[in-house]
This record gives sequence, structure tokens and C-alpha cells, in this order.
Amino acid sequence: MGQQTIIKLVDGNLMPQLGLGVWQASNEQVVKAIHTALSVGYRSIDTAAIYHNETGVGKALRESDIPREEIFITTKLWNDRHHDAKIALQESLDRLQLDYIDLFLIHWPVPQQDKYVETWKQFIELKEAGLTRSIGVCNFHIEHLQRLFSETGIVPAINQIELHPLMQQRQLHSWNATHHIITESWSPLSRGGKGVFDHPLVESLAIKYDKTPAQIVIRWHLDSGMIAIPKSITPSRIKENFDVFDFRLEKEDLTTIARLDIGKRLGPNPDTYNLTVLNLG
Ligand SMILES: NC(=O)c1ccc[n+]([C@@H]2O[C@H](COP(=O)([O-])OP(=O)(O)OC[C@H]3O[C@@H](n4cnc5c(N)ncnc54)[C@H](OP(=O)(O)O)[C@@H]3O)[C@@H](O)[C@H]2O)c1
Repeated sequence: MGQQTIIKLVDGNLMPQLGLGVWQASNEQVVKAIHTALSVGYRSIDTAAIYHNETGVGKALRESDIPREEIFITTKLWNDRHHDAKIALQESLDRLQLDYIDLFLIHWPVPQQDKYVETWKQFIELKEAGLTRSIGVCNFHIEHLQRLFSETGIVPAINQIELHPLMQQRQLHSWNATHHIITESWSPLSRGGKGVFDHPLVESLAIKYDKTPAQIVIRWHLDSGMIAIPKSITPSRIKENFDVFDFRLEKEDLTTIARLDIGKRLGPNPDTYNLTVLNLG
């Protein structure tokens, strides 16, 4: 297996290009999944306060003999805490039993609340205080990002958005790139690969590269410059999803996958999503 790739963020910090997502996994499941993941080489875990499994993430880290500073931990601020991000981060740190996290993300912009610029100002202070090494956002559209920049002068290191072959978000990805924001793909496997893994184009690439459809899709994210966080609690899939560093897709095959884009959202639209209780990732 080849060496995993590391991305340099705009603030100079380093982040693994491939990590493990843990949405919809219980505390018990994440402990096992993270042990498997660390043993095969993952060094990045993506959780969130609303996933209710930060305690399990922290437990797995404490049980591991890999030094804390070698593992990149992301968590997210839920929609009902935009006004008190500082207290919410401390609560996440308490559940994780950590002194700092590597990346703190605003989970959704919730434009109807219109608090995300104030939240971003709190994030800037949390970074300065060393409680999170990097700060970023999820599900922000260009207009939301423009406001952060015009009102604070500081761009997020990461914009984590729904991105998979059926919903490629090329305009937003390109805008992020122009502004030194790394795009991170959520639901990178389009939630289990329905309509993607069995697509003849993906199947033919799997044969060509002697890889599985999931590995082809993950490689497409990496070769397109995105960070990806496929979720699995199945040991064989956790391994399979990380076994992608011994090949690259040729340019013409990236173009082939571009043809799968039908703009199909699996999650909510960030412009209208304003729920504060439901867990939609
Ligand atoms: N910021 C946000 O708003 C947001 C929203 C959604 C998700 N996320 C993050 O992104 C992560 C990934 O997204 P996601 O969980 O929605 O979807 P995903 O990673 O695209 O797909 C996960 C699903 O695919 C299955 N799977 C994993 N590897 C597979 C493989 N090699 N072959 C076949 N099936 C496979 C998993 O099953 P098993 O687990 O049963 O193996 C699970 O059902 C989340 O866990 C979360 O960390 C963020």
C-alpha cells in the first residue's frame, strides 16, 4: 500500500486527505471502527456534536498507543449553538477528553438565524486560544463564504460539502479553490454507492484498475483535490476504503466520472435547512 497524502491548509496546518466519517455510528461502534481504522493507517476522524458519539471517539483515542498529535480530530458546532460556540466547543472537548481539536466546523450556515458571521468571529478567537488548531465550515454556499470574508477578512480552511459523483458541485469547489479553501466531501460514496457503484462507467474503471467501485470513487475525490471522509463501521470496508494509495486515475477517467453528475442531493439544501434538533449529518 502506498503512502497516504497530506493536504496543507491555508493556515499552514496539515490534514490527511482521507479520513473516517462516523455519522450514524454509536459510541460502541465508533470505538471498534476507530481501532480498525488506526490499525490500517487512518489518522483523521470526522465527528460532530450532533452525532452523539464524541465520547466513543475520545475513548478510542485514549485506548490507542498512537500519540494524540499524530491524529487529526474534527468536530462540528450544531445549529442551536451558533450563539455560544465557545461553551459548545468546551463541551465537545470534555466529551472527547481532549485539550484541543484539530478542526472545528460550523455544521450548517442556517441563514434564517443569520448568526453565522458572529459564530465565525467566536471561531477565530477559539483558534487564537489554541482550543482548535484550524477552523472551517460545512455546507456554506458562495454568498455565505463571501460574507465571512468581507466581515472578518478570514477564510475558512475547509468547506465540507455534500460531494459525490452524482452531485459534483464543480462551481463551489472551484470557488473554494480560488480562495484557498480546501473542499472536503461528505457522503463521498453517495451513502453506500447506490446508483454509482453499479454504474457501468464505474464498473468498467474498477475492472481497468483492478480495484473496487468504492476505491475508484475515493480515488476520484483524492485525484480531484478534495479531502474525503467515507464512513464505515465494517472492518473489511474500512480497510478497503483506505487501500487507495497505490494507484491514481488517469485524466481521461476523471473526465469519465464527471459525466455522472446529475446534481442529485442526498442531504438537505443549506439555503433552507434550519432544523436544530434532527440529525441530518
Ligand atoms: N457536514 C455535514 O453536514 C455532513 C453530512 C453528512 C455526512 N457528513 C460526514 O461525512 C461522512 C460520510 O458521509 P455518509 O456517512 O453520509 O456517507 P458515505 O460515507 O458516502 O457512505 C456511508 C455508507 O456507505 C457504506 N459503505 C462504506 N464503505 C463501503 C464500501 N467500501 N462498499 C460498500 N458500502 C460502503 C457504509 O456502510 P457500513 O458503515 O455499514 O459499512 C454506510 O452505509 C459522515 O460519516 C460524516 O462524518 C457530514
